[in-house]
Amino acid sequence: MAMIALKVPEIEVRVVDMNRERIEAWNSATLPIYEPGLEEVVGQTRGRNLHFSTDVAGAIKAADMIFVAVNTPTKTYGVGAGRAADLRFIESVARTIAEHANGPKIIVEKSTIPVKTAETIKEILAANARGHHFEVLSNPEFLAEGTAMADLLAPDRVLIGGERTSGGAAAVRVLADIYARWVQRDRIITTNLWSSELSKLVANAFLAQRISSINSVSALCEATGADVDEVAHAIGKDSRIGPKFLKASVGFGGSCFQKDILNLVYLCEHFGLPEVAAYWESVVKMNDWQKRRFTGRIVRSLFNSVADKKIAVLGFAFKKDTNDTRESAAISVCRELLGELAQVVVYDPKVPAEQIRAEVLGRGQENSRLVVASSACEATQGAHALAVVTEWDEFKALDFEAIFAGMQQPAFVFDGRNILDLPKLKAIGFRVCGIGKC
Ligand code: UDX
Repeated sequence: MAMIALKVPEIEVRVVDMNRERIEAWNSATLPIYEPGLEEVVGQTRGRNLHFSTDVAGAIKAADMIFVAVNTPTKTYGVGAGRAADLRFIESVARTIAEHANGPKIIVEKSTIPVKTAETIKEILAANARGHHFEVLSNPEFLAEGTAMADLLAPDRVLIGGERTSGGAAAVRVLADIYARWVQRDRIITTNLWSSELSKLVANAFLAQRISSINSVSALCEATGADVDEVAHAIGKDSRIGPKFLKASVGFGGSCFQKDILNLVYLCEHFGLPEVAAYWESVVKMNDWQKRRFTGRIVRSLFNSVADKKIAVLGFAFKKDTNDTRESAAISVCRELLGELAQVVVYDPKVPAEQIRAEVLGRGQENSRLVVASSACEATQGAHALAVVTEWDEFKALDFEAIFAGMQQPAFVFDGRNILDLPKLKAIGFRVCGIGKC
């Protein structure tokens, strides 16, 4: 919304939420999300044509177009628990829109949702429409965290799904014209509603599949003496494969990949396609295995026991340049190390200590074995091993000679992101392990 407000100044954008605290944060100097470049755009547009408030009813009345961006977590209860998307927020928003609408509106779903959700929204709106006409569009977001502003400025594509009716086509044109203010027309793709909804799930499933594929190969590299970065480079040169998303790692995280694949799995099962469901589920299983494999390697290398040993975990966010920790590989790594009775000292440049503790232990829970440090150096003081879990740039620039001197001997480095110069660390005296290389 901030990008639309920036690029199309004559459009009045109102962002509303029932959560007062969250809206206050958006109106304050410290935004609730860390995203490079976002502060500048919000600074330029807030108070001009970008407004944050809790007046949901007023915003619905004033709007011609309403973007729905509520969250759609994986269901934790009842039918489809652990797989299906929980659509109660979508449903409640549709009812709220129907309740307050005072004229025709275009409803745009931005949330990632299973296929045919637009139909649900349409049904709820139609049943409560009181004579008003609603068009429902699907406009999935493909930005990645950490690079959100650049992705929004120059997207590979914008996808807009609408009904194949004249009303649907007209609504699609309205939204396409907004994006066309800064995105080339040939990058704005229009499809039917269901193709658009499904494309988001499939795009994320394909991306995650690449990571699980290279991660599966990383295990084979360790067994055979191949180097996974060399293999990735060699296969990525094939233009049919391409070089991106081939970085072997401790495992993918983030709010999308696992959730969307599980959604896809649920859909396949629902439509009687168990083989397809199993195929995609294996991408998530491989990811879980990779996370466990990383911790297993730490334990094995440290002479089969980490009990009472201090392990410095560098990085906690699910990737660099974000303070988002949802589904971060660091969560399982820390939990497993604590399960082995290690002392775990975590440092992340952007994630607050409270958030780290809550993710690993559960809100309000305590465990004296989990400590959060305020610098990488502090975290590694007296440690037996350090493990890089997030690829923050600052970890590459650490003074490893000094770190080595402050650690227990022999000192180990486990690079879960393959960002460190392992031969150099070896020369200092560290025992080193990367992913897919040793
Ligand atoms: C993803 C999609 O990229 C984006 O299009 C969609 O809109 C939302 O989901 P995001 O979750 O923000 O974006 O991050 P992404 O950059 O895709 O990374 C996801 C995870 O995969 C991270 O944990 C990242 O570290 C990991 N990853 C990525 C790898 O392990 N190896 C890679 O080669 C690339």
